[in-house]
Amino acid sequence: MLYIGIDLGTSSAKLLLMDASGQILSTVTKEYPLEFPQPGWSQQNPDDWRRAVLEGVPELLRGFDASQVAGIGCGGQMHGLVVLDKDDRVIRPAILWNDGRTAEQVDYLNNEIGKEQLSAWTANIAFAGFTAPKLLWLREKEPENFARISKIMLPKDYVNYILTGVHSCDYSDASGMLLLDVQHKYWSKEMLSICGISEGQMPQLFESYECIGTVKPEIAKLLGIPETVKVCAGAGDNAAAAVGTGVVGEGGCNISLGTSGTVFISSEKFGVDRNNALHAFAHADGGYHLMGCMLSAASCNKWLMEDIFKTTDYAAEQSPITLEKLGENHVYFLPYLMGERSPINDTNARGTFLGMTMDTSRADLTQAVLEGVAFAIRDSVEVARSLGIEISSSKVCGGGAKSPLWKTILANVLNIRLQCLESEQGPGMGGAMLAMVACGEYASVREACEKIVRVASTVDPDPVLAAKYEKRYQQFRKIYPACKQLFAEFAKE
Ligand code: XUL
Repeated sequence: MLYIGIDLGTSSAKLLLMDASGQILSTVTKEYPLEFPQPGWSQQNPDDWRRAVLEGVPELLRGFDASQVAGIGCGGQMHGLVVLDKDDRVIRPAILWNDGRTAEQVDYLNNEIGKEQLSAWTANIAFAGFTAPKLLWLREKEPENFARISKIMLPKDYVNYILTGVHSCDYSDASGMLLLDVQHKYWSKEMLSICGISEGQMPQLFESYECIGTVKPEIAKLLGIPETVKVCAGAGDNAAAAVGTGVVGEGGCNISLGTSGTVFISSEKFGVDRNNALHAFAHADGGYHLMGCMLSAASCNKWLMEDIFKTTDYAAEQSPITLEKLGENHVYFLPYLMGERSPINDTNARGTFLGMTMDTSRADLTQAVLEGVAFAIRDSVEVARSLGIEISSSKVCGGGAKSPLWKTILANVLNIRLQCLESEQGPGMGGAMLAMVACGEYASVREACEKIVRVASTVDPDPVLAAKYEKRYQQFRKIYPACKQLFAEFAKE
């Protein structure tokens, strides 16, 4: 049988067709726009996701026997607030995970309701991208839209709704709403009440690998697939990526270099970072995970390449950065182009180059961006280490993982072995694998991972280079504290 995995990302939907052995037979990418209506705000039109999936699936299946498709699974960008009216029409553009407009609401939640209380109810504190502060923002700033809300959904749940007509959400993605009691896996009555929302406005909860329903007959016809095709609840893109890279069960680690950069640590047991710098969420395998998320990772590189250097030839820009240049760069970059989430939780933080001289080259700036992202990933790894979690190796996925140079930098900055898979398409693979479990192809997510995920290559740190990067990282760590006050002052203008 065949399975469709969808990675509903921030810049595009990446679809893949997989057979039961895990072989990727075809891929299609459908891009869509991202709106930044004000600095630090980020929105998207859910109709663009619908179109990307409905147009993408027939393209994906061209040349294949569509009657063999058994299941569809989606890994989606997390936290985005999608609001539907009583006729299931989208009320306003979705407010995305990297949107920073809710600084005031985050302050209210963390300081007036209080971090301890939030953590007791939901295992997490408020961050600007999370869904609950967006609901408070909507209630205050757009009361007419808030009053029309009949259902609240996350991005991939809207796609699942279009496919099946079912309002669903899985536990991994629901964890990022700050509305779920993550440990016990039910909606938090207290948080719903604070946000002025009733349980009837929330979608039905499922495990990621459970079937929420079959495709609607008219959708089956449109896509050219059987009406028996099952759709699983799917997962937040990071949990889906962890499934796609085989990071399930106890103590695995996956680093994603996508639009965001994440460090994902899987666990069988529920656990909370006592300082709440890392998110404590449910995992798509039925367990839990801790996660650090930086808001701009591969997007910093994309911004430098495409918006500033006006090129799409990333490899050509990276080619002058030879091995002997690594660890020697005097230019630093703070990768906070959308503010930052983990671990500093500062919507005012901004992208910053530091240390340039007259001999600084274009390649030095490129290198500084790749290194700045690696240093910021290390900030989250250090938080995990401070909790006694040992990280000596990690899987790596996401668009940035296509660059051998970036992987070398990352392995040495973190001083760990990176394991690279046959495909860097973590969330789409994970989505297809969750669909396999929902269709009974595998008995559990763990079994699907054991049968399907194969490490293709590894990148090991070099002790001399890792020592050079250790020194650079210690310098990098001083930059944000020195700028923090300025960022706050500039934000008031
Ligand atoms: C995770 C997060 C991002 C998005 C990216 O908390 O906000 O990784 O899921 O799509």
